[in-house]
Amino acid sequence: FAFDADSETEIAKILSKYPEAKKASGVIPLLYVVQRQMGRSTGSAWVPKVAMDVIAARLNMPPIRVYEVATFYFMFNMKPIGRHHLQLCGTTPCMLRGSDDVMRACHDAAGIRPGQSSSDGLFTLTEVECLGACVNAPVLQVDDDYYEDLDYDRTVALIEALKRGERPAPGSSIGRQTSAPEGGPL
Ligand code: FES
Repeated sequence: FAFDADSETEIAKILSKYPEAKKASGVIPLLYVVQRQMGRSTGSAWVPKVAMDVIAARLNMPPIRVYEVATFYFMFNMKPIGRHHLQLCGTTPCMLRGSDDVMRACHDAAGIRPGQSSSDGLFTLTEVECLGACVNAPVLQVDDDYYEDLDYDRTVALIEALKRGERPAPGSSIGRQTSAPEGGPL
């Protein structure tokens, strides 16, 4: 594994924020850099062990420390995943607002259950805890984007669009406001 030019640009920016003696603090951002580069170059955003060794060398830290961090946080994928990572919130507010229907839609449209990847390599489905967007529950994170206020039909439509190579606008699927307007609460 070697960082490509885009990653090197990102890394230079990240490491410029830390004093030389503290550059190990950049381990999490660098793990993200690896995951993004793998997504760009292979279509599967994950962090191979060999890349963790490269990070360890770059940050002058023991490889075991990089493995510890990478395996502690669920947002780093330790094995290859589909081109689109579907992360469905299953925590209570989303559950009460119909995350089971979203789960069923993922199964019907992508053919997978949590922990599985579709045979065409397009999707991996993971059930996750609260994504912090409960106001617009239920929420499905697709790669880095949040799709909110979903139901069965809107989830199927989203997945079918992704299959066609389209990227529907993220946010509330019913156009609900997601942030307070200027000068007042929602
Ligand atoms: Fe689903 Fe918070 S409970 S986003």
